Order: sequence, then C-alpha cells, then structure tokens
Amino acid sequence: MARDIWFETVSIAQERAKKRLPKSVYSALISASEKGLTVADNVEAFGQLGFAPHVIGALEKRDLSTTVMGQDISLPVVISPTGVQAVHPDGEVAVARAAAARGTAMGLSSFASKPIEDVIAANPKLFFQVYWLGDRAAIAARVERARAAGAVGLIVTTDWSFSHGRDWGSPKIPENMDLRTTVRMLPEGLTRPRWMYQWAKTMRPPNLRVPNQGAKGEAGPPFFQAYGEWMGTPPPTWEDIAWLRELWGGPFMLKGVIRVDDAKRAVDAGVSAISVSNHGGNNLDSTPAAIRALPAIADAVGNDIEVLLDGGIRRGSDVVKALALGARAVMIGRAYLWGLAAEGQAGVENVLDVLHGGIDSALRGLGKASVHDLGADDILVPPGFTRALGVPGNGSV
Ligand SMILES: Cc1cc2nc3c(=O)[nH]c(=O)nc-3n(C[C@H](O)[C@H](O)[C@H](O)COP(=O)(O)O)c2cc1C
Repeated sequence: MARDIWFETVSIAQERAKKRLPKSVYSALISASEKGLTVADNVEAFGQLGFAPHVIGALEKRDLSTTVMGQDISLPVVISPTGVQAVHPDGEVAVARAAAARGTAMGLSSFASKPIEDVIAANPKLFFQVYWLGDRAAIAARVERARAAGAVGLIVTTDWSFSHGRDWGSPKIPENMDLRTTVRMLPEGLTRPRWMYQWAKTMRPPNLRVPNQGAKGEAGPPFFQAYGEWMGTPPPTWEDIAWLRELWGGPFMLKGVIRVDDAKRAVDAGVSAISVSNHGGNNLDSTPAAIRALPAIADAVGNDIEVLLDGGIRRGSDVVKALALGARAVMIGRAYLWGLAAEGQAGVENVLDVLHGGIDSALRGLGKASVHDLGADDILVPPGFTRALGVPGNGSV
C-alpha cells in the first residue's frame, strides 16, 4: 500500500473509518449491548496483562504460522464473521481477497451481503457461519449449499440475546434501500462524499439482502426479514448442535462459549473447535471480557479441541497474550471492518500486517521462535484478573 495511506495501528484505522463512514454506518460497527460494559472490558482487559521479556536471546527469525480447523494459516489471526459489511461496496469479497493475500482463513456470516460462491472464489479457506434460523430442513439446506460451494468448515454462533437497550442508540439499519430511504439518508451521506462516490460508481445501493439465506443464485430475503425469522426461531439445544455437527461431518466451531461447563458440553457434542467469545460485547452486557474467561476454558478442554478467542483484539501483542493464556489463534471483528471502511481490501491487508508485525515483535521481545512456544511464563496475570465461569464454587454455578 502507498506509504501515504498506510496506517500503523488499528486505532488509526478506526479514526479513518469514523471520518469516512456516515454516522449511522459507523455506529453499526462500534455499537454493543446496553451500557457497553462488556465491549469496553474486552479491550481494557488486554491492557491489564503484562509481559515478561528477555533482553538477551532474541531469535533472528520467528514462525507465526499455525493451523485452525485443518487450514494452514500464516499468522494466528482469522477473520471473524460479521454481517452488515455495507461499509464498502466490495464487502466480504474484499475481505476474502485480503485474507487470502495474507495467508489466513475467513469466517463468512450468514448475514453477509455477498454470495458464498463469490467469496470462496476469492479465498478458499472459508468457514461458513450459521445462525440458528428456521427449522432443521432450512438449516440443512444452507449448510449443503455451503458444502457445495467448497466451505472447509462451519462456525455455529448461538450467543445473541437480542439486546436493543443500547445507551448509545441502536444502529439505524434501513429495511431496504428504496428511493425514500435514499432521500432520507442523503443529508448524512453528503457529509461523506468519498463513501457516496464509491457506491455511486457501482450504480447500486448497499445490498440489504442476505443472499446466503436462500438458494444459490437468488437475491435472498431482506436482512430484517431474516433477522425477524432468527428471533422467532427457538434457540438450539445441545442435541441440535450434535445433529448439525453430524450432518456437516467436517471441522465445526461453536462460537460464543464463555463458561467452562458449556465448553465441556461442546466437547461432548463432538465439536472440533470453540471460540471463547461474547460476540464482541453484543450479547449479554456485563459478561466478562473473553480474555478473562479463556484460561479456565483452555485448561479444561484445550487438549480435546481447538480453543480460539475473539473479542477486543486491537494489537499484535493482544494476540500474543491470548496465545500465552491458551488460545490456539484469535479471530478479529471490528479491527478488519475499520480497515475495510478506511481503504477497502488494502485496508484489511494493512490491519493484518499491523497484527503480524505486532505478534512478531512481541515474540522477539519474549525470545520465542514460534507462536507455539508461548506459555504462562511469558505473561503477568494480575490477581483477580481471570473469571472461571461455570465452575462449581466459583459463584457462577
Ligand atoms: C458489526 C458486527 C457484525 C457482526 N456480525 C456477526 C455475525 O453475523 N455473525 C457472528 O457470528 N458474529 C458477528 N459479530 C461478532 C464478531 O464475529 C466477533 O465475535 C466480534 O466482533 C469480536 O470482537 P471485536 O469486534 O472486538 O474483534 C459481529 C460483530 C460486529 C461488530
């Protein structure tokens, strides 16, 4: 990327996204449940962890590569699935290209704006994310479409408590982009001419349909219709999870586990991976930061399944802290959405480069040859930092 547009940190990408996006679109990226206690803790908790660096013994080269759900990845960072990628006309396809260019895998949201077939063409290391929406037959049909398209894994997300009580206001996503909406949003759009111009060039308004909820080749239902159906679907049971895992038969992640007892049930249900996550603070506010819940979960099930973490990753050093506390890799959400908003595909590549550089320099400081060598010895965990949820005697059961 040209030097003048390259950004050095994720926080600069965020500032740029804020300047480039209409207010309501930007607010959809940063919003979280209720008072935002969890989203804040996700980020702040990383700042409470310390490193124990060596001054002698840094190695000349370090290896950042690993595998997640059978996929070789060049750094322990995977794209977490996010819907509403109208921040850029190329949306998920730009993200997929960036992830492929930097050698990593991507989760594609059920509520993505681009068809899975187009996204896989840009990055074959693709995990399709499923929300529990509709009956088993409908879920099976979506999963079979993902299989036929070539998805190499499934991510099932069940943590979402539909909180609308956001102190900062829920994002105002329109029902559809008809003439009335366009006229209503025009004043806001005019304050962001560059964003408007990007869309004007495509001669199409942002896609507010979700093409992966229907059959291949169809436009799919409007986002709000799918969302309504999702809220109307009874949440899955553990038997449902075991059923879908069996049906899929391949690598399978349960995303949104935050308790040790649930992590153990996930193992029993036969999953291959979990992501310790609170949906980026979008689930139940006051849930502790994902990084606080990670150590107890990694201790309990880390030898049985792959344990990932998502929530609050803004720096390479955050990734290293998560790995030192037992994660195999992390997933990122807002960080790449800000990069996408700031500079499209190049902005997502930039974010991955920022994280790559930060991981590499933390490994160097810690005197480690590889991400696989990280452990509890590298990190200072202050007293009272961790939260072992779902463990008898710990106040959460
Ligand atoms: C705007 C936005 C949309 C999201 N949409 C989805 C989604 O469709 N499916 C899903 O599993 N998670 C979704 N998430 C959650 C992310 O996958 C991830 O768990 C979270 O963003 C991680 O926290 P971070 O943003 O601090 O990295 C979304 C998050 C954001 C911010």
